[in-house]
Amino acid sequence: MKMIHIILFFVGLLSSCIPNVISVNNDFCVADLSLPKTRLGYQCKSEKDVTVDDFVFSGYVAGNATKPFNTGTTFVNVDRLPGLNGLGIATLRGDIGINGTVPLHSHPDATELVIIVEGQVNVGFITPTKVFLKDSKPGDVIAIPKGQLHFLANSGAGKAIFFAAFSSSDPSTHVLDLVLFGNDLSTSVISKTTLLDVAQIQKLKAAFGGKN
Ligand SMILES: *[C@@H]1O[C@H](CO)[C@@H](O)[C@H](O)[C@H]1NC(C)=O
Ligand SMILES: *[C@@H]1O[C@H](CO)[C@@H](O)[C@H](O)[C@H]1NC(C)=O
Repeated sequence: MKMIHIILFFVGLLSSCIPNVISVNNDFCVADLSLPKTRLGYQCKSEKDVTVDDFVFSGYVAGNATKPFNTGTTFVNVDRLPGLNGLGIATLRGDIGINGTVPLHSHPDATELVIIVEGQVNVGFITPTKVFLKDSKPGDVIAIPKGQLHFLANSGAGKAIFFAAFSSSDPSTHVLDLVLFGNDLSTSVISKTTLLDVAQIQKLKAAFGGKN
């Protein structure tokens, strides 16, 4: 290769890289929380109004434990940290009381990392044919692939703390008990479509606020 070709090659390489680097560095769109949220996220706040506080959330502390699962959560998504808008990342802190759990749920639009910070926690996801379950301790990081039904259960003698990271700035969460027993789908339809006993469904509807 002649020298001129080599130079042209590197010039071409550079010019193909530079615009990307520049656009990546400037490519943020802080959420304008005063405008409605769309399926694609929030509209961008005018750049002159963006401040460092759009990128800082203070209050990543223990959430109050709620019944019946005895776990407190502090969820930091784009609604609470507008700088996350469009960046594809969010976080959650979970404080699991003794014998507490994070009930079976899935995030259809986000893969999750669970990072154990304190205590001992059984973390798992389940598929129709296989159970992926690990009794985890501080220092363990567990990957939960997008869409998989998963749960956490405190397996230690004391409380447990975990942090989670999501591959979405606004992950949705489907808690199995709420989907089944927290709405007005009728007991008879639930019974027919799940084969659960009517008495059990009524008990769970009472616990999760479902009607019918
Ligand atoms: C927990 O509940 C207490 C008492 O209601 C309240 O003062 C506190 O702010 C709550 N903590 C969080 C993190 O919400
Ligand atoms: C936790 O569960 C164990 C086993 O069921 C029980 O012996 C213990 O009393 C429970 N502890 C609390 C604080 O609920």
